[in-house]
Amino acid sequence: MAKTTNEYVCQSCGATSSRWAGRCPSCGEWNSIVEETSAASPLDAKARRKSRTAGVALEGLNDEVPPLERLETGIGEFDRVIGGGLAPGGAMLLAGDPGIGKSTLLLQLAAKLACEGKSAVYFSGEEAAQQIRMRAKRLGVSDAPLALAAETNVSAITAALEAGSPPDLIVIDSIQTLWSDMLEAAPGTVSQVRASVQALISYAKRRTSTIILVGHVTKDGQIAGPKVVEHMVDTVLYFEGDNSHLFRLLRSVKNRFGPANEVGVFEMSGAGLREVSNPSALFLGERDQVSPGAAVFAGVEGSRPILIEIQALVAPSHFAAPSRAVVGWDAKRLSMILAVLDARCGLKLGNQDVYLNVAGGLRISEPAADIAVAAALLSAHSGVALEGNTVYFGEISLSGAIRPVSHSAMRLKEAEKLGFKTAFTPAFGEKPERSSGITLTALRHLSELAAEFETERVSTGTHRRVAAG
Ligand code: TYD
Ligand code: MG
Repeated sequence: MAKTTNEYVCQSCGATSSRWAGRCPSCGEWNSIVEETSAASPLDAKARRKSRTAGVALEGLNDEVPPLERLETGIGEFDRVIGGGLAPGGAMLLAGDPGIGKSTLLLQLAAKLACEGKSAVYFSGEEAAQQIRMRAKRLGVSDAPLALAAETNVSAITAALEAGSPPDLIVIDSIQTLWSDMLEAAPGTVSQVRASVQALISYAKRRTSTIILVGHVTKDGQIAGPKVVEHMVDTVLYFEGDNSHLFRLLRSVKNRFGPANEVGVFEMSGAGLREVSNPSALFLGERDQVSPGAAVFAGVEGSRPILIEIQALVAPSHFAAPSRAVVGWDAKRLSMILAVLDARCGLKLGNQDVYLNVAGGLRISEPAADIAVAAALLSAHSGVALEGNTVYFGEISLSGAIRPVSHSAMRLKEAEKLGFKTAFTPAFGEKPERSSGITLTALRHLSELAAEFETERVSTGTHRRVAAG
């Protein structure tokens, strides 16, 4: 019988200690330490002696590598994000808020593979088989030869898998419901999740099946409880979006088989998730009427250019501390741009409320959006609408100098493709290819952008376009 010991495990970072504490000494999280019973490793003395004497065979770096045969899922956006298809023996974690569409995406994926003659198994710990069947009906994939089970016990799952031939794809929905009868801790605790995931990944590696694990995300954006799972898998995908918008972003944050930070765009429809092949159209919105305060940012998400409208509103404040509200961008970054506009261009907004919104519900983290934000603010303040067919990109430094950003050529190409005619870009850095259809205005300093509004306001009054130089 394995010896059992009690230990105190932080449910946030997985650190163990021999005593309980109100605050985890490792990650600083409050009230996250829970007593768990851990079974000592069940290795018997003989096995232990063997493992100590067996030794390992060492290999060279340039030994023969068989090419990685990827399994394409047929969902193009998904394949692109993971680097070109499922890697056999790969373990993937799909994390996201509850209700964002993780189960829907994986059911569509598994059904698609099953229809193409691959074997796929879907284990659900959250929904009964009947519920999944209803969802499959809604998605129009009821006829797919997909194997389904509602099970949460890891031993039962691995026993079921060992009984047949190894499937091409295993889906586990979700890791928080898994439990292993080797441990006494409750399902969802760090030791349970860690032990269960370990057992499943080792099965997948041994039998070269791809395994996709679903993980829920807590309010503050962490994968619920165990961050430890992120270290155990090969690929970590985040499925994001908000419930008031229909689009969903699939983002790879870690990938041992391909590029990280790749982004795929989906749209939730009545019949499941649809791939969005031209996301710019989604985030540009209606652009036949241009109004002051709207600027188009030529952004890049992963390896893909996306044009996004940035909207600003500046209004006199009735309070001592004017409000600064931001949706879809970093509030601190907005404060910085306002300070630079104030100090370097003399734009005083100290007694004005400022609102900034990224259209379509997208969240941008690129500093390249600085210029577009500044243009939107200048336009909102002056009441001068920007020209509808102009894009902006470039980073602003504290001195007001415009810093170069990556992927200029890609941004301009996308803008040109969508019919934009002019672009405000950084003066230095990567020289874009000669793009025929776009007139460039190279900026060295933010004051050059601000000056466009000054001359415009003096000469033509409000509601006129800003001409590209
Ligand atoms: P679900 O995949 O259950 O989310 P998760 O597994 O991430 O918790 O998605 C649930 C939401 O998706 C639910 O609010 C309904 C919506 N939905 C659609 O809009 N269309 C569909 O075809 C399906 C299946 C779900
Ligand atoms: Mg679900």
